[in-house]
Amino acid sequence: MTSKTTTGGPLGSNRRAFLSGAAALAGLAVATPRAFARASGRIEALLAEMTIEEKAGQLSCFADMIRPPVGDMNPLVNLRNAQTLTAEIKAGRIGVLMNGVGAQAALETQKAAVEGSRLKIPLLFAADVIHGFRTVFPIPLAEAASFDPHLAERTARAAASEASASGLHWTFAPMVDVARDQRWGRVAEGAGEDPYLGQVLAAARVRGFQGRDLKADDSMLATPKHFAAYGAVTAGLEYNSVELSEATLREVHLPPFQAAFAAGAMTVMSAFNDVNGVPATANKRLLTDVLRGEWGFKGVVISDYTADQELVAHGYAADDRDAARLAILAGIDISMQSGLYVRYLPELVASGAVPIATVDAAVRRVRALKEAIGLFDNPYRSLDPDAERARTATPAARALSREAGARSIVLLKNDKGLLPLPKAGKRIALIGPFADDRDNVLGAWGGFFADRRLNVDLATGLRAQLADPGSLIVERGCEVETTLAGGFERAVAAAQAADVVLLAVGEGQDMTGEAKSRTDLRIPPVQMRLAEAVAAAGKPVVVLLRHGRALQLEGVVRDAPAILATWFLGSEMGNAVADVVFGTVNPSGRLPVSFPIDSGQEPFFYNGRTTGRPAPADPNAQEYKARWRSIRNDALYPFGYGLGYAGFVLSDLKLSTARLGWNDTLRITAKARNTGQTHGEHVVQLYIRDRVASRTRPVRELKGFQRVALAPGADREVRFDLRRENLMFVGDNDYWLAEPGMFDLWVANSSVDGLAASFELLPPGQA
Ligand code: NOJ
Repeated sequence: MTSKTTTGGPLGSNRRAFLSGAAALAGLAVATPRAFARASGRIEALLAEMTIEEKAGQLSCFADMIRPPVGDMNPLVNLRNAQTLTAEIKAGRIGVLMNGVGAQAALETQKAAVEGSRLKIPLLFAADVIHGFRTVFPIPLAEAASFDPHLAERTARAAASEASASGLHWTFAPMVDVARDQRWGRVAEGAGEDPYLGQVLAAARVRGFQGRDLKADDSMLATPKHFAAYGAVTAGLEYNSVELSEATLREVHLPPFQAAFAAGAMTVMSAFNDVNGVPATANKRLLTDVLRGEWGFKGVVISDYTADQELVAHGYAADDRDAARLAILAGIDISMQSGLYVRYLPELVASGAVPIATVDAAVRRVRALKEAIGLFDNPYRSLDPDAERARTATPAARALSREAGARSIVLLKNDKGLLPLPKAGKRIALIGPFADDRDNVLGAWGGFFADRRLNVDLATGLRAQLADPGSLIVERGCEVETTLAGGFERAVAAAQAADVVLLAVGEGQDMTGEAKSRTDLRIPPVQMRLAEAVAAAGKPVVVLLRHGRALQLEGVVRDAPAILATWFLGSEMGNAVADVVFGTVNPSGRLPVSFPIDSGQEPFFYNGRTTGRPAPADPNAQEYKARWRSIRNDALYPFGYGLGYAGFVLSDLKLSTARLGWNDTLRITAKARNTGQTHGEHVVQLYIRDRVASRTRPVRELKGFQRVALAPGADREVRFDLRRENLMFVGDNDYWLAEPGMFDLWVANSSVDGLAASFELLPPGQA
């Protein structure tokens, strides 16, 4: 083993080294759109005219109670009714309204700002458009299973088209928090446990929401959130504190944000949690030193919902005034919903506790944002009721939702080719609380803006493809967490009368998302009892899992011959599942989160670091190794795993060199062959491992993936390139460095298999 030569630099003082490290694969340099960089003279002129109250107004965002989507969503905090809000808009005390819908009402509200306020500054309309608007697409975690950035870009584009038609300029998405603990409910909203997949999808979603032209009527500003490390809340408990090494923060949790900025995101939302004792919303080091100093971010930072006020509950601020002071000094430009900036900034500036220059800098950024999307030239952009009618719930959006749904499904198991089912000639019993349920197809954000009349349940989707719709018998058997009178008996009778059972079990929509942490990843007990009773009928069972996280599977569900991970797929859920069940679509999703054997393994992720006592290959060995007393510390279904109806084989792994020069590129090729009878798509994955380093390194790290579509019998070469930059990590004193030495690599079907090879990274100057 060659002795190590380091390269790189401290993050603050050597930004180039940093960017060429974690950022390398996504080519991450913070991209500031030209319109934004050229903050015009108009901004300076207006700034000179503004009172401190008007400045505080521009830095304040409130829930839109003029056109609320679902009544009063949070009566404890939404103290402003429509009338008060309109009066405050006219008084110049509001810069952003959020989570309102409808072009006509937005038009009138904008008029209040542009014609009714002294400075005529247009409002920004923001909203949580997370995975669709009226038409809902798969939850982001499900869509991550497609390993398809192009798809993520298309669904984000479609969501932006619908939402902007309803009078919205800005979405609080994508959520890019890397989530390594499945107990956390918000796993559902992100791209899963891997930082590389997270980077690729973050960038794709930003591109999709914003489109090519920020000034276009259908463009929406994107907001990667929640900055930072929200996905690392201790024990997966929502809002809990975060204790994290600098290296893990930099290597795992920050890269998706950088990717989002590199793709053009101009705003970011701070997180609720603290990071090593300093709340993210008052974290000057993160919000100013890292974000603006190291990365050169010029955009707008918005707090999460009342997160500035929560600095008091954190025990970090003495009172609300102190919280406002700490937040703005740390780098929060816009206060969301607490009203603290409106209440306290004038006095904080007057007393000298906050320099006016700090406030002015934030106001400049917000105004530049409004300018960048063309609001000053056309305050009524995206506020056209005719466009709203034309662009809402279009057939194209619904077709895309169905396509995305089918591509997000992961086939976990398919013994003896039980799937796909024929469309004729079999009696099918569809059993379980999700069988004909339309309230649990959208996912955690589904209650917000969705047109729920569009929701397609499983029974409807399946029947539509059957030659004889009467061959489908539907019985819920029980509800998500409670029994249903006579439900078990009817379900068992249905199973007995059928040739095959489709068992739709899992989590309800309200068991995932914000504030929905679970201690236990199992399917609710009543559903397990139903599953046992139904399985006893002896018919082959296909499990259709409903979930917003990885689950712990057990008993007859785990042991069923066929299992599909179907998540929450959005408006077209029933059709998308039917497409895969009947083989209209060959499943090609891969898991973006590891399914543990047992909930007690969490936090569980494939890219954990090596230990001194790795588990032995023999599953029965009882040595003193890194394993649990009762089980190995393996996944039941690992990250990257998924089957299709066609067989795929990887072969012919070749490396362009076994000795990679310091400034050279290693080309890796392999052959993917479709050995099945059906056209299919496969996700070929590249993993590496640094064998010996000055830091213990992950047992594997994803460094690339490619989707390959192949006709039956066809093959294709897949190629990956690796450079030194892809091998870097954070070492001493927060230096990004690459160390010469041996690396293993795998071209693989998942994070635990693959064709293996190794290569050596040579020191600088050595050919
Ligand atoms: C709180 C959530 O954490 C955040 O993701 C969301 O954007 C805001 N509420 C606004 O609804």
